[in-house]
Amino acid sequence: MSTRVRFEPSGFETEVDAPVALIDVTDEHPKADVPYSCRSASCGTCRVEVIAGADALVPPDDDEQDVLEIFGDEGPVRLCCQLELAKDTEVLHLRVLDPY
Ligand code: FES
Repeated sequence: MSTRVRFEPSGFETEVDAPVALIDVTDEHPKADVPYSCRSASCGTCRVEVIAGADALVPPDDDEQDVLEIFGDEGPVRLCCQLELAKDTEVLHLRVLDPY
C-alpha cells in the first residue's frame, strides 16, 4: 500500500511510501509548491492545513507546537518541514496556508 499525497492550491498529486518526510517529497517535486524558509520549525513559512490523513502523521513535537501557537491558526495546521508520514493511508491532503 502507498499513500496518495495531494497539495492545494497547486493541485499536485503524487504517491509515496511511508515512512517518509514530506520535505523530501516536496524537494523532489517542486510542483507541490510548498514555501520553505528555515526548514527547522522556526519561521512558520511552511504552514499547511491537514485536510485528510492527519492520523497517519507523527504528532508535532514541542518546537513545532510552539511555532503553531504563535500563529494561532484554527484547525489541524502543521509545519510541512516537520511532517513525517508514519504509516500509509489512502490520502494525505494538504493545503498550503498564506505565509504572511
Ligand atoms: S520552513 Fe520554517 S517552519 Fe517550516
